[in-house]
Amino acid sequence: MERFHIIGPNRLAGTVRASGAKNAALPALAASLLTDEPVQLRRVPAVRDIRTMVRLLEHLGVACEGHEGGLRLRRTGPNRSAAEAPYELVKTMRASVLVLGPLLARFGSARVSLPGGCAIGVRPIDQHLAGLAALGAEVKLEHGYVDLSARRLIGTRFAFTTATVTGTENLLMAAVLAEGTTVLENCACEPEIADLAALLTAMGGRIEGAGESTITIEGVRQLHGVAEHEIIADRIEGGTYLIGAVISGGDVLLVDTEPADLAPLLEKLAETGARVEVEQRRIRVSHQGPLAPRDVITAPHPGFPTDLQAQYLALMTQAEGSATICETVFENRFQHVPELNRMGADIRVDGTFARVRGATALSGATVMATDLRASACLVLAGLVAGGETRVDRIYHLDRGYERMELKLQQLGAQVRRIDSADDADMSV
Ligand code: EPU
Repeated sequence: MERFHIIGPNRLAGTVRASGAKNAALPALAASLLTDEPVQLRRVPAVRDIRTMVRLLEHLGVACEGHEGGLRLRRTGPNRSAAEAPYELVKTMRASVLVLGPLLARFGSARVSLPGGCAIGVRPIDQHLAGLAALGAEVKLEHGYVDLSARRLIGTRFAFTTATVTGTENLLMAAVLAEGTTVLENCACEPEIADLAALLTAMGGRIEGAGESTITIEGVRQLHGVAEHEIIADRIEGGTYLIGAVISGGDVLLVDTEPADLAPLLEKLAETGARVEVEQRRIRVSHQGPLAPRDVITAPHPGFPTDLQAQYLALMTQAEGSATICETVFENRFQHVPELNRMGADIRVDGTFARVRGATALSGATVMATDLRASACLVLAGLVAGGETRVDRIYHLDRGYERMELKLQQLGAQVRRIDSADDADMSV
């Protein structure tokens, strides 16, 4: 098992390029099921969740090969789908449910293991299933699997009762091949949804309003391949490095990014006293001196993203005074708090609120990552903590951050990836 080994405190300074967005690439890969022609994607991040999705797609008859810094996907399997996403794959990555919509629309059936709860919450998929049922699918839940079938999906009007990112993506991919018009209401508005719609449009789909709360889709009979679709920049990965700049009193230039997608974070960082400069596809964030505490409430886009809550919480341990963080999207997303407190932070959790009292001098410790963003939070804390921090179980981090230790080293941090086999030589 691998871990990060950080010697702090560090000051991050320099330039870092945003990777392609994991959460945009995952549905884009799933969309390759919608055609037999090649779909070529650029800027697909080399992270573990993408490798899991590739394994799942290969299982479903899609040939996936590396292509110019991205992937070339082509479905070559038999036309009647033996379309099953098995438990072994779904349990390692909930986003496996993104194959439900495309399989059903393309082959008239899908069998996907139900994802259980996960480290950050219960995370049901009732909205995905209600939407697909509204399009005419018969839905059966048996033996831990969801079985969907439909002769042909029929366009309809469907309103999500909870705005869901992957639910909206699943419905988009199903409705694009349905007969007639589908109107989806109360959709999630995350930029990754607009990116999926751009890909589907390039494949011949007819979609209006993606990225807004109402999306209209005119179904088409078939979709074709795409010679090149570039995945958008990862706003969460980029945001993590920008928070790293502030927490470490550093100066980081993030390039090849989409500043508008990071607006909620940038506004907040500016309020804490950081200097934020934006030009076209670059963001420079720097900070010196005391940091002002600022409360945050997570919310669906364009609110403050839940996927940056843990990293922001680490930042607030360094602010002069108290800040309250309210998590409204997931019910169990404060698992990083006990670990931060072990490093010297003063944080109390009360239901959906975490109250942070700063500034506290963090000290290096051995801490355990529990989920992807919690891991990033512990790495940020390790950067400012005095002495040695070991972040265990970084396989969580590898799900969504491309070569994080290399990017941090490039910014001047003392961080190394250590295999437990090398533990004997850990005393640096
Ligand atoms: N929800 C329901 N019913 C549903 C679907 C969702 O009640 O059928 C609830 C969830 O339990 C949650 C809320 O709705 O309380 C929002 O969940 P959503 O469905 O939007 O989350 P998701 O689609 O499963 C995606 C990202 C997450 C990110 C959330 C919120 C992908 C692959 N994952 O998950 O990313 O936190 O949206 O923005 O796009 C991460 O990258 O670390 C990550 C967890």
